[in-house]
Amino acid sequence: MDAQVDIREIPFKNDWWTSFVSETNHFKGHTVKKDVFDLYQIAELKELVADTIRIITKDSLRIDNTGARIWLDGKYDENANKFFQDHPIEDNQSVENWAEQTFQDGKKFGMFINFVTRHNENLANKVNELIDPYLSQFGIPLEGISATLILGNYGWTPLGIHNDKRGEYIVHLHLGPGEKDMYIWEEENAKKKGFIHRRKVENKDDYMNDYDAKYTFGTGDIFSMPGRCVHIGNTKDFSIGLVLEFNGYTSKSFSKKMWFDIGKTLMDKNFEGDKALVLPAYEEDDHEKYINYLMEHLKYTTTDTKADIQKHLVKCFTDYKLGLLSNGGYVRAPYIDKVQVKKDYLVQKDKPVIKLVESYNLQYYKNKNKLVVFVRKNRFSVDYRHEYVDLLEKLNNKELVTVGDEYKTVEFSKFIELLFVNKGICFEDQK
Ligand SMILES: [Fe+2]
Repeated sequence: MDAQVDIREIPFKNDWWTSFVSETNHFKGHTVKKDVFDLYQIAELKELVADTIRIITKDSLRIDNTGARIWLDGKYDENANKFFQDHPIEDNQSVENWAEQTFQDGKKFGMFINFVTRHNENLANKVNELIDPYLSQFGIPLEGISATLILGNYGWTPLGIHNDKRGEYIVHLHLGPGEKDMYIWEEENAKKKGFIHRRKVENKDDYMNDYDAKYTFGTGDIFSMPGRCVHIGNTKDFSIGLVLEFNGYTSKSFSKKMWFDIGKTLMDKNFEGDKALVLPAYEEDDHEKYINYLMEHLKYTTTDTKADIQKHLVKCFTDYKLGLLSNGGYVRAPYIDKVQVKKDYLVQKDKPVIKLVESYNLQYYKNKNKLVVFVRKNRFSVDYRHEYVDLLEKLNNKELVTVGDEYKTVEFSKFIELLFVNKGICFEDQK
């Protein structure tokens, strides 16, 4: 008799993603998957969440850049930055313990941090590890990957009934301990009720007895949904959610992005659009005057052809795509305290050994006599030297490179410093 093989679904490995993708009709449907994570994995993720909040609360410059939003007893707190400063999370303190201490007397709170992985390389690596089998099988969504941390005991989601971006798909990893309910209205149903895309519903009660789906999920479960679905969550007890966002462009948003980029590229560097001369009032027969004014300040000229515009578009798209690829698909570059990183770099050893930062790579192309390089979504260009390309190739091949005399010329040192400061490379003994 053939031996029975126990094929257990291993979370986030290839087979897991394959069945998840088919179950959701490639990210078109909503669903809950129960008990995806075991207790060990949950503990690991929670520790990474605590570390992230610790990193943010310890650095006032970073606090200004978190984009965190906080609601206290249902009211939006304008001073989220101050809140973090006043309530730092201690070393070795758990998130639950911190929340308990910070929000005593049954206070209700909700905290949302967008693009959260940019603050903690370890959290970014972990998320990368979880989604990498998806990305290698199905590709990076055109707009990239991002993650939002949501925590609190806020009850109804303070944002109210709303929808997120069209083209986006969210995969919510629920780390508990509290459960969360999610109510969903399909777009068509919500539209019938007068819902307008991305506008918060003012009177929730009009909706609550006529939803299309309700899910309840707890510790270790995953909830997923397309961003276009209208929804509201409810978490009575304290819970932590790490929401992974797979951001696809709609054709409209993609066109907007490309035309915006092309506009930026064509704008003459000396032309500061918002500071320049205020245009005179409209004169009925003189519309060409305004267009000529604009053309004068664009690199684009009236003799440029349609083919030139296409060339510009290809260039914009290439730059955008290589930036994303250099950053493991993350929409945002990591947060970088350039002064600190430079200091670290300057106290290097005599012949330091450098390597690529795990999970990422360096993208580049030659453009005339320039070498354009993309490091963790940042772009810079230098005068082309084949030695630079040799070094980038070695690093991309995961080789350890000793910075010996050949790399110590002023230009080469500067080049290595740019890779280092943008977090594309690190020293051998770092992660
Ligand atoms: Fe939402």
